[in-house]
Amino acid sequence: MLRFYTAGESHGQALLAFVSGLPASLPIDVEFINHELHRRQLGYGRGGRQKIEKDRAEIFAGVRHGQTIGAPVALRIENRDWANWEKALPVEDTEGLESEKKKLVAPRPGHADLAGSQKFNFHDARYVLERASARETAARVAAGAFAKLLLRALGTEVASHTVQVGHVRLERGASWQEIQGVCADLESPLRCVDATTQLKMKAEVDAALKAGDTVGGIFEVVAHNVPVGLGSHAQWDEKLDGKLAQAMMSIQAVKGVEIGAGVTAAGSYGSEVQDEISYDKAAKKFRRSSNRAGGLEGGITNGEDVIVRGYLKPISTLRKALGTADMVTKEPVQGAYERSDWCVVPAAGVAGEAMVALVLADAFLQKFGGDSIAETRRNFQHYAQQIQDF
Ligand SMILES: Cc1cc2nc3c(=O)[nH]c(=O)nc-3n(C[C@H](O)[C@H](O)[C@H](O)COP(=O)(O)O)c2cc1C
Repeated sequence: MLRFYTAGESHGQALLAFVSGLPASLPIDVEFINHELHRRQLGYGRGGRQKIEKDRAEIFAGVRHGQTIGAPVALRIENRDWANWEKALPVEDTEGLESEKKKLVAPRPGHADLAGSQKFNFHDARYVLERASARETAARVAAGAFAKLLLRALGTEVASHTVQVGHVRLERGASWQEIQGVCADLESPLRCVDATTQLKMKAEVDAALKAGDTVGGIFEVVAHNVPVGLGSHAQWDEKLDGKLAQAMMSIQAVKGVEIGAGVTAAGSYGSEVQDEISYDKAAKKFRRSSNRAGGLEGGITNGEDVIVRGYLKPISTLRKALGTADMVTKEPVQGAYERSDWCVVPAAGVAGEAMVALVLADAFLQKFGGDSIAETRRNFQHYAQQIQDF
């Protein structure tokens, strides 16, 4: 239904995103897309690249007079850093000096460098790392902004916050209002809803920098006001929890995904985990006593907030480099160091929002269809009435 692709190398001319399947006449706010791109560039612990880039989406196709037209959307985000890389990564086969090619022969443990070079038969990890780089998440965030605009038109919002940085963890829950608030606060260094915990997180990031090391963490994406019934229990590949897990795992450096309280649930009794059901006769609505299921039961949304956590490993590029083997000489050397982030949890959270929004938007379109947003909305409203009457 809703499909998207990205293209582009980290230091190439630009990143590209293609989104197809959006209904026609969906209002597109380009400033909102650029605002999302800006949010991805923020966060305490980022390297020098973010000072060079000022990400903005140029839309080339699929949007006219401020609305989608039912045709594929194509957009481009310029890489300002390209000016420094033209000689290293020219499209034409030029006669450039070997030294200008910025070859990387000391593969960094934890990166795609060695496995990718072996797979594609390059004795230089440059082409591999250029595409494996999470600079690609800028294109995802732009595509995700379209999904967010579709969801917003149907009443659903997606936001994220930081739950853990290194060893420092937020030890309490966060309300939807708090998460929205911290998302709107562009000055928040780590997008944590608790000021005291955030200070400790900052100190953790500082300590990593000082030691030439890096930190990982956990971000939580919440989708609010999601209707009952997206996804299906009927086939393994229709389960929405499975689709969300795949989407989140595809984000660079995400090594684990948790839906609701999934991780702690594994070590708890059933009575401590399941959310009890009641019926509110006045509101004509089923309610749950808690939301440990993270809004999903049997692969189907149950009307509670959808809660998905991404577990990020620490960044692999270390100033205090780890041991590796030179791909050409096969001699032991230290892993290459390139200008790098040392904490990316808030930025990964913005990428996580985009991926959750894209999966949910696709699920909406599978359920409600529609070639124009008016048709999608009409189908959605009929279904909302069916749920109300259930
Ligand atoms: C927002 C974001 C920024 C990242 N920045 C860097 C970086 O500056 N340096 C680095 O080595 N890895 C960075 N990473 C992680 C790598 O892209 C990732 O670890 C690598 O591509 C290998 O993929 P894998 O960790 O998913 O196996 C970043 C990840 C994210 C989500």
